[in-house]
Amino acid sequence: MTARPIANEHPPTSGSPNGGSDHNRAQRLFVEQLTLTDFRNFASARLNLDGRPVVLVGDNGAGKTSLLEAVSLLGAGQGLRSRPYKELARHGGRGGWAIAGKVASGGETVPLGTGFGLAGDEDRASRNVRIAGKESSSNALANHVKVVWLIPAMDGLFTGPASERRRFLDRLMLAVDPKMRTPRARFERAMRQRNRLFQLHEGSPSLFAGLEEQMAETGTAIAAARLDAVSRLAALIEASKESLMQGLFPWASLALAGTLEADLMDGSAVEVEDAYRERLAVTRERDRAAQRTLEGPHRSDLVVSHGPSERPAEICSSGEQKALLLGLILSQAALITELDGAAPLILLDEVAAHLDATRREALFSEIFRLGAQAWMTGTEASVFASMTPKAQIFGVNCGTISD
Ligand SMILES: Nc1ncnc2c1ncn2[C@@H]1O[C@H](COP(=O)(O)OP(=O)(O)OP(=O)(O)O)[C@@H](O)[C@H]1O
Ligand SMILES: [Mg+2]
Repeated sequence: MTARPIANEHPPTSGSPNGGSDHNRAQRLFVEQLTLTDFRNFASARLNLDGRPVVLVGDNGAGKTSLLEAVSLLGAGQGLRSRPYKELARHGGRGGWAIAGKVASGGETVPLGTGFGLAGDEDRASRNVRIAGKESSSNALANHVKVVWLIPAMDGLFTGPASERRRFLDRLMLAVDPKMRTPRARFERAMRQRNRLFQLHEGSPSLFAGLEEQMAETGTAIAAARLDAVSRLAALIEASKESLMQGLFPWASLALAGTLEADLMDGSAVEVEDAYRERLAVTRERDRAAQRTLEGPHRSDLVVSHGPSERPAEICSSGEQKALLLGLILSQAALITELDGAAPLILLDEVAAHLDATRREALFSEIFRLGAQAWMTGTEASVFASMTPKAQIFGVNCGTISD
C-alpha cells in the first residue's frame, strides 16, 4: 500500500465545520468539578477545580491514571484505555461505577454524568450518559467536551500495529468532525455482517449487495473525512513547525496509506464510492476464502515521519518518537482550538518527568498559550515546581485526593 503525502490545502485560519470563530475564544473548556463513585480504586472522590492546568502527584498505583481515564470519559468514545466498562468498576464495590462532572463549555456550566452497571444494566455493553439532567448518547458528549491524550501505552504507536494508528487517526477525524461517528459505526456494522456471512457460508447476492452499498457509502465518507482532518493538521504543522514548542520538538510529516484515501486524491467521491462498491462485489470469492474483507478503510494507516530528518517515525530513536508524538498531540490540540475556539482538555500521563527542564518548560508554555486545562501526572511534585501557582496541584494516595 502506498502512502500519499498530504497536501496542505487548508490555510491555518481555515473555517470550521463546527462553526468555531474568534469571538468565542474566551469560552474556555474546563472541568469545574469531578466526582467519582466506585471508579477503579476510588470508592468516592471529588475534585473542585478552576480553569488552570491540573497536576496529579502520587506514588505508583495511587490512582493518577484512573483520574485521567475518568476525565476522558466525559468526552465521547470509550475513554483513554478503551477497556470494557465492566473492568472499570471498583473491586469490592457494587459492580458498577459513576462519574459526574460539571464542565465549563461554550460559556456555560454543563452538568454531565456517565456510568455503568449501577442501574441494573450490567448486561449492556454501552454506558449511560446524562447531559444537563437528560438521558443522552455518549456521542453527544462531543458537543461539550473534546479531549486529547498521551499515555505511556502510546509509546509504541509508530512501531506497533496499524490498528492503533487508525484509532489515533479516527480520534483526530472525530475531533474535527464529530458527526463521523455514525458513518464509522455503520461501516463497522455492515462489514461485520458481511464477514459473518462468509464465515457462515451464507448470504444471497442481494444481501451482499446491500451491505456492500452501505460499506461503499460510509467507507468513502470515512476516507474523505480522514483526508480532511489530516490535511488540516498538516497545514497547521507546516505553519507552526519552526515555532512548535520553541523549536525544541521535532515536527511530524504526515501521510495516509489506504486505497480509498489514495483514490480520493485523484477522483471524486462518487467515482471512488462506485469503484469501491464494484471491487467489493468482484472480490467476494477472495474475501470468502479469507473469511474477512481485505480492502477498505479498516486497513488504512497513518504514516508519520520525523519532519526535520525525513526519517520514518518507526526507525527513530525512542526519545525522538516520544518527542514527535508529544508534538503531534499538541498540534492536534492546537487544531481543535483553532476549529472550536476553545482548547480541548489535554491529558498527559507521565509525560513531564521524561523531559529535560528546558523541554518541560516549553511544554508548560504551550499549554498556557493554548489556554488548555491540561491534566498532568507524575510521581514527583518537584517536576511541576515552575507551574505553581499557575496550576492546581493535588496529591493522590490510594484512591484519595488531597490539596
Ligand atoms: N477495578 C478496579 N478496582 C480497584 N482497583 C483497581 C481497579 N482497576 C485498577 N485498580 C488499581 O487501582 C490502582 C491505581 O491505578 P492507576 O493506574 O490509576 O495508578 P497510577 O497512580 O496511575 O500509578 P502509576 O504511577 O504506576 O502509573 C492500582 O493499584 C490498580 O491496580
Ligand atoms: Mg499511571
